[in-house]
Amino acid sequence: MRSPDAAMKSACPNGQGFNISRRSFLKGCAVAGAATGLPLWFLERNLTAAPARPKPLGVNDRPGIALVGCGGMGRGDAGNASRFGDIMAVCDVDEKHVDAAAKQFTKEGKTPAKYSDFRKVMERDDIHVIITATPDHWHTLVNLAATKAGKDVYGEKPLTMTIDEGKRLVQAVRKHKTVLQTGSQQRSDARFRLACELVRNGRLGKLKEVNVWLPAGLRDGPFKSQAVPPELNWDFWLGQAAKVQYLPQRCHTMFRYWYDYSGGTMTDWGACHNGIALWASGLPAPSEVEGKALAQPIPGGYTAISEYEVKFTYANGVIHNVRTTKADNIFGGVEEPQGQRNGVRFEGTDGWIWVNRGNLRASDKGLIETPLPESAQHLYKSDDHMGNFFDCVRSRKLPICEVEVGHRSASICHLGAIALRTGLKLKWAPAHEKFVGKNAREGNRFLEREMRKPYDYSFV
Ligand SMILES: NC(=O)c1ccc[n+]([C@@H]2O[C@H](COP(=O)([O-])OP(=O)(O)OC[C@H]3O[C@@H](n4cnc5c(N)ncnc54)[C@H](O)[C@@H]3O)[C@@H](O)[C@H]2O)c1
Repeated sequence: MRSPDAAMKSACPNGQGFNISRRSFLKGCAVAGAATGLPLWFLERNLTAAPARPKPLGVNDRPGIALVGCGGMGRGDAGNASRFGDIMAVCDVDEKHVDAAAKQFTKEGKTPAKYSDFRKVMERDDIHVIITATPDHWHTLVNLAATKAGKDVYGEKPLTMTIDEGKRLVQAVRKHKTVLQTGSQQRSDARFRLACELVRNGRLGKLKEVNVWLPAGLRDGPFKSQAVPPELNWDFWLGQAAKVQYLPQRCHTMFRYWYDYSGGTMTDWGACHNGIALWASGLPAPSEVEGKALAQPIPGGYTAISEYEVKFTYANGVIHNVRTTKADNIFGGVEEPQGQRNGVRFEGTDGWIWVNRGNLRASDKGLIETPLPESAQHLYKSDDHMGNFFDCVRSRKLPICEVEVGHRSASICHLGAIALRTGLKLKWAPAHEKFVGKNAREGNRFLEREMRKPYDYSFV
């Protein structure tokens, strides 16, 4: 059952927050209860508008799209999606961000409706697609609310904050038969696809190692708390995470350096590059993980470990190392031209292949240039990540980075972050999605997280 707070918020007529006090809402329910003899919980639940399943799309109809999380990536995604549908609604807990998005997506005099509570967006039957581009700690609840309302989802990576969230989301997407594309656009980049196809087809002989390089995070602090900017609903921004004083360094863009809202660069860039390592291996997950922090966070500063080494071992003996580089920044920009770039290097008995956004190289040109035979194993082909999603919205087929792919790509990164946070060597059972053997209890503690009320699963 939804909490009274959640029900009360949903009952607000304009969806823009608390227009009636909790006391007057409950008083109203109590009066109605006395008149009808119906219990309070039942009245509360029925006062909450049900999510509306989208109207079926005609052949020539453009899908209605809502953007939840109007920061840098969200507005980029929505711009990209507007090739295929109409941006009808924008939602953010920061008024300035929602205003900027509404302005950006005003077309032919029509301005998208503005919301601060994403649950209200789910009540509209003219919205078919939700783009979720909030910070990571909000992804799952927004995606679950959308899925339950029968909306299709373009959900930014990393798809989840925990492995348990991923399992729930996979189940919900299957149950409600929605289409979910994870926003890991490297899956629709021909360089990454070719590298993975070559590895899968034995072009490197036997695969021995995968070496992934991710941009290092930031190590900074301590920070001084500040007054919450008037345009920001800080409590809603924090959501499930612990209630703390406002720091700009916790909030927009910088959330990715805090374990409360992200898994550090391990899950940020890791969701992209480790997901590619999995694609090439064809395996769902490694069976062992260990990690070492190379720098400790500064007390009172960012909490996510900024520099590290993580080693995954797969059941077939392949080693997958993840290391950080300071030569690239978190936006992929080059800091030191001669330094180590972020990317993925596959090492086999017959040579190596290096791939990143913009570059594909091999120990011998022939490894790339010699065509694969027609009989080779070919991977799912998509050259337009957003286009592939909208094709699937119409065809109801699985998109290239469907929910299980997004979940497994996030999971491997969560495993890495758990190894770093516990400092332990851990054994993973991919089929059961649990740690097993020595240290299992310590590892399994991180499979879920505490969710501050009312922002737990009952919120959506
Ligand atoms: N695919 C990629 O290459 C790529 C690149 C960058 C970011 N991302 C992902 O996109 C997501 C957003 O990143 P960003 O850099 O744009 O962050 P950002 O901080 O710039 O934007 C996030 C926005 O979400 C809003 N928000 C927070 N809680 C909300 C809630 N409950 N409801 C509605 N809005 C809420 C914030 O106010 C903010 O405007 C992250 O998950 C990130 O990993 C993906």
